Amino acid sequence: MVQIKSSLVFLFYAAFTLATPAQIESDIAVISTDVNNLSNGISSISNSSPSLLGALTVHSDAVTLANALTSATTAATSNGALDVADGTTILDDLSTISPVIQDTLTDIVTKKPAFTTLNGEVGGILALVLQDLENLNGNTTALANALIGIAPASLISNATTLKNNILSAFSTAIAAYS
Ligand SMILES: *[C@@H]1O[C@H](CO)[C@@H](O)[C@H](O)[C@H]1NC(C)=O
Ligand SMILES: *[C@@H]1O[C@H](CO)[C@@H](O)[C@H](O)[C@H]1NC(C)=O
Ligand SMILES: *[C@@H]1O[C@H](CO)[C@@H](O)[C@H](O)[C@H]1NC(C)=O
Repeated sequence: MVQIKSSLVFLFYAAFTLATPAQIESDIAVISTDVNNLSNGISSISNSSPSLLGALTVHSDAVTLANALTSATTAATSNGALDVADGTTILDDLSTISPVIQDTLTDIVTKKPAFTTLNGEVGGILALVLQDLENLNGNTTALANALIGIAPASLISNATTLKNNILSAFSTAIAAYS
């Protein structure tokens, strides 16, 4: 019942809210802020003296980013086909964020000793990191597919390459925590 209700709410939203390219771009700006925040949070984790607060901040930043990815996906899904100008702007924005995402995913693997130490003190930390990575991977895939679905034909190839590069970095990080 709850599920039916939320599907109806979603349909109502999708049918009556006309997202615009500007909305997608503003949601992507939020993603950029949240990715930088997550990246800073992970950078500040120390393998030699990890703090639980630092790990929980990373988790909170990951949840914030997941929500931003989901908002952008909703905006993309409720927008019609993008023209080349808007599609290029969005692709350029995401191309700028992509290396930060990839570095962040490399860094979370580098910081596995810190999360392992914390996991020995408070159970469930490694599982939480894995769950956050899997959620973000799912939300990123959903956004990429939504954007590719509305991209002009001339940008689909580059958008697909961008998606594959990011998802490949996710699968390396997920493997390290699995
Ligand atoms: C960035 O992360 C910090 C914690 O690391 C949080 O307090 C702050 O609200 C975040 N900023 C944004 C814009 O999400
Ligand atoms: C996407 O993110 C939301 C939080 O916004 C989360 O509840 C959900 O599980 C994620 N979906 C996937 C497929 O990972
Ligand atoms: C697509 O990617 C290629 C190779 O990186 C680049 O040279 C080209 O400018 C990109 N095209 C668009 C439309 O972004």
